[in-house]
Amino acid sequence: MEESALRALDLIAKKRDGGALTTAQWNWLVSAYGRGDVAEEQMSALLMATWFRGMSAAETLALTLAMRDSGDILRLPGLGRPLVDKHSTGGVGDKVTLVLAPMVAALGLAMAKLSGRGLGHTGGTLDKLEAISGYRVDLSPDQLVAQVRAVGVAVAAASQQLAPADRRLYALRDATGTVNQAGLIAASIMSKKLAVETDALVLDVKVGEGAFFATQLDGEAFAEAALAIGAGAGRQVRAVLTKMASPLGREVGNGREVAEAIDVLSGHGPKEVATIAAVLAANLLEMVMPDASAETAAAKAWQTLANGSAMEHFERWISAQGGAISGLPARLRQAAAAEGVIRADRTGTLAAISALAIGQAAALAGAGRSRKEDQVDPRAGITLVAEVGQAMVPGDVLALIHASDQTRLGQAQRLGARAFRLADGTGAETPLMLAVMRHADAHRKRRRSRGSDGGDGGTDL
Ligand code: URA
Repeated sequence: MEESALRALDLIAKKRDGGALTTAQWNWLVSAYGRGDVAEEQMSALLMATWFRGMSAAETLALTLAMRDSGDILRLPGLGRPLVDKHSTGGVGDKVTLVLAPMVAALGLAMAKLSGRGLGHTGGTLDKLEAISGYRVDLSPDQLVAQVRAVGVAVAAASQQLAPADRRLYALRDATGTVNQAGLIAASIMSKKLAVETDALVLDVKVGEGAFFATQLDGEAFAEAALAIGAGAGRQVRAVLTKMASPLGREVGNGREVAEAIDVLSGHGPKEVATIAAVLAANLLEMVMPDASAETAAAKAWQTLANGSAMEHFERWISAQGGAISGLPARLRQAAAAEGVIRADRTGTLAAISALAIGQAAALAGAGRSRKEDQVDPRAGITLVAEVGQAMVPGDVLALIHASDQTRLGQAQRLGARAFRLADGTGAETPLMLAVMRHADAHRKRRRSRGSDGGDGGTDL
């Protein structure tokens, strides 16, 4: 056996037996795997050993930085204002970036966000933005920097050179049942986020049946790992945990979500979308302007919606990236090829709307993809008409389905109907905002779980 294969074998055995790999060993593994000196089966075994044994904070940081350093680092020096970023772990109807980005620009910050496309039941920001005719997602690094300088915002496709080691390792984790481990998820996400040199990052960690993290505990474990990576890498990071049991807002589907984001920017969209955007913006502001109190930061964030400055920055951003503003948002709500409804089939109170079922139904309607190469239909999606807590009688409209063709309409209607739970009592609503976590909170929480501290973990809202 070659020397490198032997060395990989030693490291797999060390991890399997509960040992911690050193930074030098993680660096070697990531770069040797990139060169082809560590075989796929060896990396698979190492990932499985890591899934079972976990990683120390130092190991998680080492893996993150090794993956970050496998590709290009994007620097935007001399902007004259703080550069911030946001990551959402993904939810159904999550159009928060479209509101948050212009909001932070209106607050005098800048946002350069590299995003991806949707797969499965949650949509991707790029798919949503491409529903705006003319919007260009492919910007060269120079174009991205120039746009952020000029208008304070750019949201573009992540290049293949952004943490390429993560790209390969994520695909391998997907094929080996090793995705759902907090340290590996945090290392993967943070390797890409740290590859853009920003002053502060906020993580929107969605928790619930329709999200990547089903429980608050899972979301917190991820947030703690990500916050520790941020602290180790010298980056200011906060995590905001938000509920994702039912879809966010009323529109699900690419063009319709952009239309709803424009409604929020115009001051009349769903309150929950505005609330999450304002909380994220306020946390970013607090991180880069430590003198700003939490109350002042929140008030400033809300003000950008009330005084129209966030809307102005949205229009500047979209126009700078080639998107046609005129006729929005009506153009984004044009009828799809096949339109239908879902109606209540009994009397009762609408107790719950499953985000997962609505996300899957919207994808079936044509808004999502099951394989990377599938095309999405910008007009496809679901509009929620009824709200949780509303009294319904048979025949009342629960939702509108906008589908790419009649076959998809039938499939989406059948699956979508299962999303609505009508009950005899009233549904118990859980709060939208679950917690804000900073590194100190996460640290305190870990110490408390070891029995040495009475601190309270995240800041409950
Ligand atoms: N998203 C990522 O980018 N990486 C993970 O590991 C999970 C979700």
